[in-house]
Amino acid sequence: MATLRPRRSCLAVPGSSPRFLDKARTLDSDQVFLDLEDACAPLAKPEARKNIVAALNEGGWGSRLRVVRVNDLTTHWTYRDVIEVVEGAGANLDCIMLPKVQSAAQVAWLDLTLTQIEKTLGYEVGRIGIEAQIENARGLVDVDAIAGASPRIETIIFGPADFMASINMKSLVVGALHPDYPGDPFHYILMRILMAARAHDVQAIDGPFLQIRDTDAFAEVAKRSAMLGFDGKWVLHPGQIPIANEVYSPSQADYDHAELILDAYEYFTSEAGGRKGSAMLGDEMIDEASRKMALVIAAKGRVAGLARTEQFAPPE
Ligand code: GLV
Ligand code: MG
Repeated sequence: MATLRPRRSCLAVPGSSPRFLDKARTLDSDQVFLDLEDACAPLAKPEARKNIVAALNEGGWGSRLRVVRVNDLTTHWTYRDVIEVVEGAGANLDCIMLPKVQSAAQVAWLDLTLTQIEKTLGYEVGRIGIEAQIENARGLVDVDAIAGASPRIETIIFGPADFMASINMKSLVVGALHPDYPGDPFHYILMRILMAARAHDVQAIDGPFLQIRDTDAFAEVAKRSAMLGFDGKWVLHPGQIPIANEVYSPSQADYDHAELILDAYEYFTSEAGGRKGSAMLGDEMIDEASRKMALVIAAKGRVAGLARTEQFAPPE
């Protein structure tokens, strides 16, 4: 997987609210995204651009990834959002999030615009990344091309609320299972996004869960996309942050197991271990594919700061 900067929890912060912008600096999310789109009323957008530039330049964001969500390209706000934010605070910004992406051409537009601004201001060209939100059928159908449309792409994000509206889904509870459907109505969409993300070596991020006081339901929805392989999820409330940080990190047991597999496989494939391509670790057979699975879990565990509690001992 490309960038290992974790995005287990991606906190949405309305750019129109200086109070929320301040508060976001005190919360333990891996990422903040300062929103100019749907959490910002049309009349509040010009002021929100200024609030966001000021908040980014003020600093105090620690190791959090700093992202700004601009308006989508069917509106007339997008170019001004990008120009004002990147010209005003480009040095203090990690990514621009583009919502409701419908084609690779939209990503190419953002890439070229960022390049123009970076060149004009003397910034390193290509440092600012792009996060692409898939929020309608058009975007999902083209998600492979979108994921490969620019080397700046760092994430593909599922936007379930807009997506449900766009396909006429008969439910208002974003991301949740429904009694009338004998399965997970979001499974195909999540998998489709995940495949495109993995094929292009970028992160896959699940979207928001709106029942913000129901943390159990949030955990349930998050576990489903984490299980598939998603890297993180949006959070809309402080109570969702520790849950996302935990759900999108491996458990201690899985982390220990992964590190054991890596050590054991290294030993068994070595001269001293008998140059074996497959071997037994306790009751489990391991081989090169086990090593690959273990690498993913171990990398996520290391990034999450987990420490090993078990060591591998070669057989007597
Ligand atoms: C997020 O933007 C969503 O539409 O779910
Ligand atoms: Mg949306």
